Amino acid sequence: MKPPRQSFISQVFDLVSSKETLEISNLKSFKDQRLSTAISSNSDVILEDVTKYYFQDGNLVYALQGCSLEIHSGELFSLLGPSGTGKTTLLGLVAGFEHPDMGVVKVGQDKIVEPGPDRAIVFQSPTLFPWLSGVDNVAEALRFTGLGRLERRKIAVEQLSEVGLADAAARRPHKMSGGMQQRVGIARALVMQPRVLIMDEPFAALDSYVRQEMQELIVKIWLRHKITTLFVTHSIEEALLISSRIGIMSGGKVTEIFEIPSKYPRDPTTNSFNNLRREIGRYIEAGVRAERNK
Ligand SMILES: Nc1ncnc2c1ncn2[C@@H]1O[C@H](COP(=O)(O)OP(=O)(O)OP(=O)(O)O)[C@@H](O)[C@H]1O
Ligand SMILES: [Mg+2]
Repeated sequence: MKPPRQSFISQVFDLVSSKETLEISNLKSFKDQRLSTAISSNSDVILEDVTKYYFQDGNLVYALQGCSLEIHSGELFSLLGPSGTGKTTLLGLVAGFEHPDMGVVKVGQDKIVEPGPDRAIVFQSPTLFPWLSGVDNVAEALRFTGLGRLERRKIAVEQLSEVGLADAAARRPHKMSGGMQQRVGIARALVMQPRVLIMDEPFAALDSYVRQEMQELIVKIWLRHKITTLFVTHSIEEALLISSRIGIMSGGKVTEIFEIPSKYPRDPTTNSFNNLRREIGRYIEAGVRAERNK
């Protein structure tokens, strides 16, 4: 266990105070050059020609089919795509819950064979232990680190402060709102100092105001720590607000990648933002039509 990162408290939220707005006019689509299976030295997550299938009622269902993807070290990569295109399956393979039927999934140079503390996961439902306080839920993630109980709780409190929950650390989940619970879930993932943070529609169940707060939080944390993040969402706007790159999934593979200019915070009211939102929407719809006509 590495020592905790430098004090989380009070340093976090000043990084995105810039008034710069997103300029998407220089958006580049990287379809051809970025979908190659060539392995870059700075990739944290690599899928090489991965196929994963299931049997449903005696029928073979392909969740992923020849899917290749590289997620670079320190980027916030979002996956967008219609239901059933394999987003959660892809996350499950990276998490190590699932295994590919063909192809290889790696973290860095290492083939993934099982879940590990180098990959932390945040689901749509925070799945906290209801009998533990917020701080103990987070401290629990450090149980097998060799740290003593007091040290674990101290680190957990710092981590909860980073996600804006210092005052509510002692509450149990049933005394917290959905947004607060999800903050605990994020703190629990971050406290492990993972190499890769995996998030499957983490804000889908939250109301729009809380969701916006959580999007801002994730950007602030990511700007500070630059943890390689793999984020799944159904919201084009959400992906555009937070991501370095956005991968579009269709038919069990990533069919297009959009690189988003790096300036934050992003302004969803600008023409450039809305043009890109429409462009991505049209791309996804075209994928749906193509799949239907197969
Ligand atoms: N454990 C499983 N057993 C059988 N079929 C599965 C299993 N997991 C996924 N599938 C099938 O694989 C396909 C891809 O599912 P997956 O959950 O990865 O899609 P998704 O893109 O995450 O969808 P959503 O946006 O609805 O969450 C679907 O057809 C799904 O029914
Ligand atoms: Mg899913």
